[in-house]
Amino acid sequence: MKPRDYKEWYKIVRPIITSKEYLKRKKFRHHGNTSVYEHSIRVSLGAFKLAKMLRMDYKSAAIAGVLHDLYTTPWQDVTVDLPFFKRHAFSHARCALENSQKYYGKYLNPKIENAILRHMFPLNIKPPRYSTGYIITIVDKCVSMDFVFCKETWAKTFRFLKRG
Ligand SMILES: [Fe+2]
Ligand SMILES: [Fe+2]
Repeated sequence: MKPRDYKEWYKIVRPIITSKEYLKRKKFRHHGNTSVYEHSIRVSLGAFKLAKMLRMDYKSAAIAGVLHDLYTTPWQDVTVDLPFFKRHAFSHARCALENSQKYYGKYLNPKIENAILRHMFPLNIKPPRYSTGYIITIVDKCVSMDFVFCKETWAKTFRFLKRG
């Protein structure tokens, strides 16, 4: 990314990613050795770049990217055996939306809110309503490819490996 674009991206997301609440995500492990903070920054940068290239709303894409995984509890810390559809993969998008509204409400708009809520499509069956949501969904999947190689993620999500 060009330094000028990077500066523009940083100006958009800086108030969020430098806040005390957001910095807590540096300690949340995502997949493998990646933190939620690092993952969300990657998604935001990728979404910003793609939206800009497609002449879409890149500001909303950048903000939705940093907020899409703003859930409260690192999924590795959940020890209770929840019903399948209440597990992290299915529930964290709503939690991220609620936290985004609580902490960063003034930076939101309907496109950003819907992108956060629907970013787990097609796992969560309702598709995004706006192009911003599709950008976040696609970029998140690409950035999350480390999921494929993370045994712990598969075990936690599907419980295949627990029995073995
Ligand atoms: Fe997510
Ligand atoms: Fe994500």
